Amino acid sequence: MFIKNLSLKNFRNYENEVFDFKSGINVLVGDNAQGKTNCAEAVFYLCTGYSPRASKDKQVIRYGEKSANIVGSCQSRYGKVEVSIEFTGSQKNIALNGVPIKKIGELMGNINSVFFNPGELKLIQQSPEDRRRFLDISLSQMDRSYFYSLQKYRKILEQRNDLLKNPDREVVYDTLPLWDSELSSVAIEIINKRKEFISKLIPHAKNFHFYVTGGEELELSLETPYFSGTTKEDLITAFSEKTEKDLVLGYTTVGPHRDDIKIKIDGEDVRVYGSQGQQRTTAISLKLAELEVFNERFNEYPILILDDALSELDSKRRLKLIEKLKGFQTIITLTDLPLELQNLGDINVINVSGGKIKN
Ligand SMILES: Nc1ncnc2c1ncn2[C@@H]1O[C@H](COP(=O)(O)OP(=O)(O)OP(=O)(O)O)[C@@H](O)[C@H]1O
Ligand SMILES: [Mg+2]
Repeated sequence: MFIKNLSLKNFRNYENEVFDFKSGINVLVGDNAQGKTNCAEAVFYLCTGYSPRASKDKQVIRYGEKSANIVGSCQSRYGKVEVSIEFTGSQKNIALNGVPIKKIGELMGNINSVFFNPGELKLIQQSPEDRRRFLDISLSQMDRSYFYSLQKYRKILEQRNDLLKNPDREVVYDTLPLWDSELSSVAIEIINKRKEFISKLIPHAKNFHFYVTGGEELELSLETPYFSGTTKEDLITAFSEKTEKDLVLGYTTVGPHRDDIKIKIDGEDVRVYGSQGQQRTTAISLKLAELEVFNERFNEYPILILDDALSELDSKRRLKLIEKLKGFQTIITLTDLPLELQNLGDINVINVSGGKIKN
């Protein structure tokens, strides 16, 4: 799958530009604050309907303008896919091959991408929430029913949390088992899909990481600190065991909203002991593994977007990473074109300056 062209109108610092991409390596080069990440962000929007920066939709409208538009034409193994998004400030209107969609879930899986930017280092350094976000974005693109389960789970969880705050304890004890059963049904689906995804990720992430680092052993596992079982019934038991605690706290302490990914290098927790470069390489290893899992599932690679991924990597790691960028479309943003990339020859270089393409 690859994106052929991308048109941006009043999107961020772009007034009206069209990007032509190749199916191989595309490099967006430019000084700081010229619009490289903005372009990468637009591609991610077309895939998921959301900003990878988790910023508000209306922030993408060019200063002083009333609306913004992005349109992308992609080629997948099933044919052409065109996605357009109009941002009006109060809403976004998404169309797929010219037909407006009603729910954002309908967009998922049409154009797939794997996105890395320095913010993704949160995946390693920060809270479990960022690691769950990684799982959720990947799985939602791969499996629309996962996205719907997640939405449903969040809704029921909110209702359960409201119930925990109800001062009428009789009502609480009467109704909780019902909520626990409903919540467990959706939760177990989410947990199982996350486990399956991680188990598929592991061999690729290990291989890639070993190769790029010249010998580091990467280990990954899904942590479900609130239960050790495998079934819906195990989960219902975990909910009921924690009822008293949840009532005191006023929120739910059991469920996939507490999951985390444990990441180790050579047996040590990379969050605590990893160097900057190690953490960056680990995040990239996870992303490249994700690319392989997509390909195994759909027999087609998604688009790889590497926003400012190469800085902080030493030249050996950089070269090995670049060697791996074969057989799929990559969009890389950089402030300077490194020799390792120049030497590849067959790359599409797009110079970006002040929200304009300068070629
Ligand atoms: N809604 C908007 N309207 C106009 N300009 C915007 C808007 N949102 C962001 N910008 C501007 O876009 C510019 C470029 O942002 P971008 O993040 O794409 O830079 P970059 O080329 O990736 O730079 P760096 O190398 O520092 O990462 C910033 O100067 C920012 O002020
Ligand atoms: Mg940037």
